[in-house]
Amino acid sequence: MDEYRTLHFKNTYSDRDVSSAFPVLNDAGIETQIDDVEILLNFDTVDVKYLEKSKSDNLLLSNVLDELLKIRSFSTSNGKTVFKTFNKEKKVTGKDENKKKRLGYEYYKKEFSLYNNDVPSEFQNKIICSDSLELLKKLPDNCIDVMFTSPPYNFGISYTSTDDVSVWQDYFDKLFAIFRECIRVLKSGGRIIINIQPMFSDYIPSHHVVSNFFLKEGLIWKGEILWEKNNYNCKYCTWGSWLSPSSPYLKYSWEYVEIFCKNLLKKDGCKENIDITADEFKKWVYGKWYIAPERKMKEYHHDAMFPEELARRVLKLFSYKNDIVLDPFNGAGTTTKIARELDRRYIGIDIDEGYCETARKRLLEINSLFNQGDET
Ligand SMILES: C[S@@+](CC[C@H](N)C(=O)[O-])C[C@H]1O[C@@H](n2cnc3c(N)ncnc32)[C@H](O)[C@@H]1O
Repeated sequence: MDEYRTLHFKNTYSDRDVSSAFPVLNDAGIETQIDDVEILLNFDTVDVKYLEKSKSDNLLLSNVLDELLKIRSFSTSNGKTVFKTFNKEKKVTGKDENKKKRLGYEYYKKEFSLYNNDVPSEFQNKIICSDSLELLKKLPDNCIDVMFTSPPYNFGISYTSTDDVSVWQDYFDKLFAIFRECIRVLKSGGRIIINIQPMFSDYIPSHHVVSNFFLKEGLIWKGEILWEKNNYNCKYCTWGSWLSPSSPYLKYSWEYVEIFCKNLLKKDGCKENIDITADEFKKWVYGKWYIAPERKMKEYHHDAMFPEELARRVLKLFSYKNDIVLDPFNGAGTTTKIARELDRRYIGIDIDEGYCETARKRLLEINSLFNQGDET
């Protein structure tokens, strides 16, 4: 925001009030920040009518509305309230020249082949049980539009077929061997999108290590989404050095989604294959997404799933209908289910046959809704 107002509230609200209020505030155009002490709201243009409609018995929303209605200097535009400004930022002049001087991403970007290939039909719309390192070698160069995945995190999660704990060097060596194959099979103009949670307790910033890897390989870093899960599980525990600066332990309720492009930031596609709505686009280009963690992990017998809504937003924002979507760590098949639901083609690979079976079952559920059979 160039110009904005800020409201401060003491954080005395219940977790329930906060987690249901934040998505409504974001949808109304208000940027939210929270810590243990304070809730901070930044805004310029707000859909006040929407707030009024959505507040129900939420105390935080009612208090925000009260404060907004006290502000006297505002105008209206397209039914929304534009609050007049303070905190004006300084304008930078000569932006384009400065950009040229700095070279932008050209300073690390490499050139890859521009010639794209089709995915052989035997791999299309398939869930494949394999080590991704082996399977990906069977795919031609430049044949995948979008890769979306969350890799094994090396946390010690009890996956059925891998133990998920290695010396970090071995973990990154294996992961990067697979990611090198992903870069090779990615089309020119394609995207690699990775949901990653750093190992805070080991002080290993895996999201930075992974990003650094892709930059060194010459992909363009398109950006980062902060996935706020609002799970305040350890709000009152794990302090590190309690009440001492010697080593306080920082706590997080979010994960990262890193986005990289091969050759180009722009991805070509037919207009009729765009399925994102104007409202979705406006909300989702703001790079902080409030999405609750997946609730069906027990039902799907997988301990590290991401929620369907995360995959839905990623695929609608970064891919076209009929694109070919790869998840090389497909787990219980969230990416492939949503790809199917959104009329994308898919390839899901996981080393564990049980997880692949779950992924296939979830596809069958979607296919039966669409009343048509795909091969899985
Ligand atoms: C974080 S989970 C992915 C969960 C998935 N996003 C979902 O929503 O169900 C990582 C997955 O990687 C799989 N995996 C680990 N090493 C693999 C490898 N070398 N090749 C293919 N899959 C692997 C694990 O079995 C696990 O299911």
